[in-house]
Amino acid sequence: MAFPKSFLAFLAFGISVFAQNEFQTVLDTRPEHLGETFHHPIRRVAVVGAGPAGLQAAANLIEHNFAVRLFERAPHPGGNWLYSEETPIREPYPDMPVGQNPDLDIPYQLPIKRYYNDGDDDLTLNHRWTEHWRPRPVWYNLFTNSPKVSTELPDVTYHPGTPWVLSHQAIQRHVRSYASHHCINSNDYCPATPSAPRVASYSTRVEKVEKDAEVLTLRRLERLQYSNQILEEWWTETFDAVVLATGPYTSAHVPEIDGIVDWSKAKEGEHYSIYHSQSYRHPERYARKTVLIVGASVSASEIARDISPFVHRIIASVRPPTKPIGTRLRSLSRFPNTTELVPEIASFEPLKTHTDGIREGKIHLINGSTLQGIDEIILATGYQSTAFNRTLFFAYIFALKRINSPARPHANTSWMGHYIPDPTLAYSSSRAWTMGRYQYYGLAKLWEGTARLPPPEEIEEPDTRPEVWLGEGTPHWLHRETQLFRRYITWLNDASLEYGGRFVQPPPIEYV
Ligand SMILES: Cc1cc2nc3c(=O)[nH]c(=O)nc-3n(C[C@H](O)[C@H](O)[C@H](O)COP(=O)(O)OP(=O)(O)OC[C@H]3O[C@@H](n4cnc5c(N)ncnc54)[C@H](O)[C@@H]3O)c2cc1C
Ligand SMILES: NC(=O)c1ccc[n+]([C@@H]2O[C@H](COP(=O)([O-])OP(=O)(O)OC[C@H]3O[C@@H](n4cnc5c(N)ncnc54)[C@H](OP(=O)(O)O)[C@@H]3O)[C@@H](O)[C@H]2O)c1
Ligand SMILES: *[C@@H]1O[C@H](CO)[C@@H](O)[C@H](O)[C@H]1NC(C)=O
Ligand SMILES: *[C@@H]1O[C@H](CO)[C@@H](O)[C@H](O)[C@H]1NC(C)=O
Ligand SMILES: *[C@@H]1O[C@H](CO)[C@@H](O)[C@H](O)[C@H]1NC(C)=O
Ligand SMILES: *[C@@H]1O[C@H](CO)[C@@H](O)[C@H](O)[C@H]1NC(C)=O
Repeated sequence: MAFPKSFLAFLAFGISVFAQNEFQTVLDTRPEHLGETFHHPIRRVAVVGAGPAGLQAAANLIEHNFAVRLFERAPHPGGNWLYSEETPIREPYPDMPVGQNPDLDIPYQLPIKRYYNDGDDDLTLNHRWTEHWRPRPVWYNLFTNSPKVSTELPDVTYHPGTPWVLSHQAIQRHVRSYASHHCINSNDYCPATPSAPRVASYSTRVEKVEKDAEVLTLRRLERLQYSNQILEEWWTETFDAVVLATGPYTSAHVPEIDGIVDWSKAKEGEHYSIYHSQSYRHPERYARKTVLIVGASVSASEIARDISPFVHRIIASVRPPTKPIGTRLRSLSRFPNTTELVPEIASFEPLKTHTDGIREGKIHLINGSTLQGIDEIILATGYQSTAFNRTLFFAYIFALKRINSPARPHANTSWMGHYIPDPTLAYSSSRAWTMGRYQYYGLAKLWEGTARLPPPEEIEEPDTRPEVWLGEGTPHWLHRETQLFRRYITWLNDASLEYGGRFVQPPPIEYV
């Protein structure tokens, strides 16, 4: 039987490895693992990220008796769905490509503890704290743009009366219920023995992953209420295998528009006049303002809807779509009917002062017109991800593209050219909610030895031509994904038949 490469990608593939302010990875190659057993038994496994993907990875691995440690930079589980009034630290102007951050200053000798006071190194404690956990780009009135079946986790399924579209509060409760059900919430502690370490370590950012003896460099922050300090602890832990479930959105994308760096310095009182949608929280603040939103996708249209009852005027700068993607058309139709659509911005004319907002400033559009009198600009211009290819949004197969990302050091040694997955380093998939249960079950089987990867010569080159996915009429990708899942399920069940383990049903069509 020939296996499509994509199906292996489903087992082990990457969304975000080398992330701005996130961790560095150093990979190696172990082709001899393919279709073989591992050098040493896999016992200790690290999971990075406590979103819907990482929580399911941890839960499945615990169920298969691995010694699991889950590391999450935020203080609680939820991933993208951990709402906070806190906003992320300001995005850099100009845009900083992910992976090009200056190297992190990892202390020479670990472990180490340090205490920080407000103002140390010219940083406030709040800055240090939010830089560490990165508050999520979720606003107070955000609802899902997907049906509830596609954000449902196993074991804690939604009540039958749950509406089709959910508030972020409902999703957050759902994810936290799942975490608690598996005893990995931030305040859970259910050790097998009194001396066993806790599975989950929150407020803990993985700064570096070194492959071979999988060594994780870890940094945990704690706010000390009484002394008004931050305690920072650095240490390392060693594992046999690692799951990276760090999410699809790594950092905010700031468009390259002439003059944007000058305008980014403009403030009115404490508030910057131009900022990315990741910091948007409440609509009331926009009362009687004239707001320019840049972008034509989901953040743009949904923020426009949220603020429209309050504002004086909404203007949206929309560039012509490069491709007829359904979500784009849907977003355009969801802008409130009072939105004035204008073309792309050509340039921002330099401001006379940065302390008096941008109302006097001139914005030149590509059609020759000029805008003036804008109070605030929201850049709903999307996110950067180290290896996430927007064109290739719809299928797992695209992992094959992602692994060629320059964000992966040593990519050619293990992943490019011929596809040789490193079986002790696994990545979350873009369908964390619905497919995670299959993906991490497969991973647990592989690592416990009740499933085997097929040898490379049996892995068939998949057809990754874009027209296969984005062709007119029938969405071919849907057929292809369905087929791939069925093949994956067949592989899982074949493995259980041969080496032991439970059988699984193919996923329902709504999951795809
Ligand atoms: C504004 C917005 C709205 C969205 N709306 C929807 C929607 O309606 N429906 C839908 O299906 N999807 C939506 N999404 C997509 C969302 O990403 C997924 O629903 C889901 O959260 C992905 O799960 P995940 O576990 O892969 O990643 P995440 O939920 O992003 O979780 C990743 C976790 O990894 C942690 N992490 C990252 N790096 C490190 C590190 N170095 N060390 C320790 N921890 C780390 C992060 O802190 C985070 O908690 C939306 C996304 C955004 C930005
Ligand atoms: N549940 C919800 O309600 C909700 C809300 C927000 C986000 N989300 C999810 O979060 C993810 C990110 O969505 P997003 O809307 O933040 O980002 P996005 O989908 O990446 O959209 C970014 C938008 O910015 C535009 N853009 C970039 N540079 C521009 C420029 N110089 N001038 C004009 N436009 C420019 C892009 O145009 P092009 O299309 O031409 O590239 C695109 O329309 C999506 O998965 C979305 O579904 C969900
Ligand atoms: C615009 O939308 C509002 C409310 O959504 C509605 O009352 C109004 O009739 C609409 N106007 C036009 C011109 O469609
Ligand atoms: C540019 O576009 C805006 C918005 O569509 C329009 O009002 C304006 O007349 C256009 N200007 C020119 C010079 O065509
Ligand atoms: C994304 O994939 C498409 C289709 O394979 C490719 O043309 C494009 O260059 C890729 N983009 C990036 C940023 O890798
Ligand atoms: C990538 O491959 C080239 C050519 O085979 C080799 O010279 C180079 O060392 C490899 N890169 C790494 C990081 O191993």
